[in-house]
Amino acid sequence: MSIVRLIYASKIKAGYGPNDIMKIVEVSEKNNQQKGITGALCFGPRHFLQCLEGQRDVVNRLYNTIVTDERHTDVELLYYSDIDERVFSDWAMGYVLAEQSLHEIVFRFSGNSQFNPYEFTSKQAIRFLQAVVEERQKSIKTKVEETESMA
Ligand SMILES: Cc1cc2nc3c(=O)[nH]c(=O)nc-3n(C[C@H](O)[C@H](O)[C@H](O)COP(=O)(O)O)c2cc1C
Repeated sequence: MSIVRLIYASKIKAGYGPNDIMKIVEVSEKNNQQKGITGALCFGPRHFLQCLEGQRDVVNRLYNTIVTDERHTDVELLYYSDIDERVFSDWAMGYVLAEQSLHEIVFRFSGNSQFNPYEFTSKQAIRFLQAVVEERQKSIKTKVEETESMA
């Protein structure tokens, strides 16, 4: 059984905003868990960057569905490969907003502060997603620790 990683970039279609994105995340978390898919979805003001990891036929089928989703356009495949190990094994669909707090990471990977995943090489894309998900995990951990110390 082949496990693959797929990464693509796309543009959010005009008229779609944060509420629509949260709906996508909700559905994705549920579906991906059932399908054994892990990954991350990062979105900025105008773009998506998504990584999907899982069984090859399952990932391919989902990608075909995602490509035809009318909430985004110009879907461009950045990376596709067999993998031995998942990077996002803990995340059915980690999602991260490429907002102010991530500007430093965006800058580090793309050399400018605008989140434009079309400019990433495949290596930059995976490293970027790993960095933003790790950053998010750190901030969740800090929040849990703060709550525990208040109890
Ligand atoms: C940027 C983007 C990323 C998406 N990612 C996923 C995903 O990881 N998993 C998923 O099931 N659907 C994802 N979707 C939604 C699918 O295109 C489709 O609407 C959904 O899988 C249908 O699910 P349902 O049959 O449960 O209604 C994504 C859509 C967009 C626009």
